[in-house]
Amino acid sequence: MSKVLSAHAVSVDGYITGRDPGAGRGLGDGAMLFDWYFDGDTPSQVFDGFRLSGPSARVFDALAGRVGAVVAGRNTYEDSDHFGGGSPHPAARLVVLSHRPAPEMTERQTLVTTGIEDAVAAAREAADGRDVGLMGGGVATEALKAGLVDEVILHQVPILLGGGRPFFRALPEHVRLRLLEAVPAPGVTHLHYEVER
Ligand SMILES: NC(=O)c1ccc[n+]([C@@H]2O[C@H](COP(=O)([O-])OP(=O)(O)OC[C@H]3O[C@@H](n4cnc5c(N)ncnc54)[C@H](OP(=O)(O)O)[C@@H]3O)[C@@H](O)[C@H]2O)c1
Repeated sequence: MSKVLSAHAVSVDGYITGRDPGAGRGLGDGAMLFDWYFDGDTPSQVFDGFRLSGPSARVFDALAGRVGAVVAGRNTYEDSDHFGGGSPHPAARLVVLSHRPAPEMTERQTLVTTGIEDAVAAAREAADGRDVGLMGGGVATEALKAGLVDEVILHQVPILLGGGRPFFRALPEHVRLRLLEAVPAPGVTHLHYEVER
């Protein structure tokens, strides 16, 4: 069975955006969360144009290479300008989870309005045996609540943003994690956890 992973760039205080994110504004005043994608000299083998440090390229490409479909929350979809009608990942289909219609979607994107289980099932089918990536704190929380997440990856950037969209939300019960790998790299520490079951 393919795995479901949540991988996000987070500040040390747990934000995945800065203040005032949105269409045309990206991560708001938290754009530095993505600096490590571009401040190295090792080109990504998966994402054109990304140049990371050596340790970050190893971690990033290993994860990105596993993903066959992405489930993004509606906020991520809107704030990312609908990913230009495509996907946030060069080789993965996009599934958007929302409560409402999204008339602007293209044939390369799938809308699911019936909940996280259906969104992950649609992504698994599209991924054709590869893994499913989650994008958005709301979606990651819904998937954690439903017991659907296998791995949580925090690309922790050494800043306290003090505001923005939080990655961490209330959960109805504890979720135990086991650290698989911790990789310090220039401008970011990669923390890779497995969800214990
Ligand atoms: N730093 C990073 O690595 C990173 C990665 C990904 C995203 N981001 C950023 O994070 C921000 C978005 O994160 P977020 O946590 O605010 O939102 P999100 O998870 O992207 O989206 C939340 C929305 O998804 C829909 N949704 C969630 N659960 C649902 C369910 N069970 N059934 C139906 N719809 C459901 C709802 O939309 P509606 O009710 O409105 O339909 C909800 O408001 C964006 O600005 C994005 O750019 C950052």
